[in-house]
Amino acid sequence: MWERASNISTSVVLMPCDRPPYISPIRAAMIPHSSSRDSGIDFAFDVANRTVVTLANKGLGMQDIQLIIDRIYDAMVPRLGEGKVADYIPELAKVDPKQFGIAVTTVEGETFVAGNAEVPFSIQSISKVFMLTLALGKAGETVWNRVGREPSGSSFNSIVQLEHEAGIPRNPFVNAGAIVVSDIVMAGHQPREAIGELLRFVQYVADDDSIIIDNAVAKSENATGYRNYALANFMRSFGNLHHPVENVLGVYFHQCALAMTCHQLSRAGLFLANQGRNPLSGHTVVSARRAKRINALMLTCGHYDGSGDFAYSVGLPGKSGVGGGILAIAPGKASIAVWSPGLNKVGNSALGSAALEMLANQTGWSVFGA
Ligand code: DON
Repeated sequence: MWERASNISTSVVLMPCDRPPYISPIRAAMIPHSSSRDSGIDFAFDVANRTVVTLANKGLGMQDIQLIIDRIYDAMVPRLGEGKVADYIPELAKVDPKQFGIAVTTVEGETFVAGNAEVPFSIQSISKVFMLTLALGKAGETVWNRVGREPSGSSFNSIVQLEHEAGIPRNPFVNAGAIVVSDIVMAGHQPREAIGELLRFVQYVADDDSIIIDNAVAKSENATGYRNYALANFMRSFGNLHHPVENVLGVYFHQCALAMTCHQLSRAGLFLANQGRNPLSGHTVVSARRAKRINALMLTCGHYDGSGDFAYSVGLPGKSGVGGGILAIAPGKASIAVWSPGLNKVGNSALGSAALEMLANQTGWSVFGA
């Protein structure tokens, strides 16, 4: 006789009654424990027990999440140092590449960490999510008159589409689009006030006043940011920047220089996982519809020309930064931050991407289903 295992909430798990009544789905998933690049951890098939345990399981316990990220950390340790640290911003080139951190904050407000999750790093382009949230709050849908919502298929600092598209960047996450978004937030403010507004916003959503901007990183990028100066001047020539190029880039470089730990970043993204409301503070940050739309942009554009691959292998809205961080959102479940400085060929954290693939496989949190 077969019966449904009662304590695994959503998966259909058939087990013989004379067997022990509970197999932790996470433990079962670990059976074919192999490398992080595996695809075999999607399910465990135990021939002896004639038991298939799928992981499309909303009933992950606290211990399960901690166990999963501990195992991910273990899988990453032998790979520490993989990828190439961004060196076009000289200050970033000084970071020790052999680091990896992960933090998961659930919509219940619990945080789980492993590795270097309490080490601050430069969040770089991940800041574009927070600046976009501010710009939408300030200018609403008019933001979309000045920046598109389509994947670019080009690298983050590409200039090629701008001429064809009359200075309107493809989306708010490529550098050109983010520079326009900063310009929108600056309306009616001195540059210093716009930076202060962003910093206070990030502190507010993370519920943590200790978050700072690393001025050395901002200065370092300002000294070498020729590409961004080119993009900004080009857009200004089309009338799509309303403030002086130096001022807009001053704001943009400072937003990119926000320094946060994985722990802080996972908390800061939580409103996006919880329909716009931060469960830590109880405050509504944005409407549920706006949170959904920001997540949609993260999914389609958050990894530049690597966005398709990230959707394929991870299946979560995500935003990467050249500091090696990635913020990923599992809607209705958790906000996840990973960090490892070595980047892959399209400029996204190599180990961070691998870790998120493992996490999505083992939790069943992909928005496309397990
Ligand atoms: O503007 C830049 O080039 C950097 N401040 C940010 C680029 C970035 O993080 C791209 N992300 N993967």
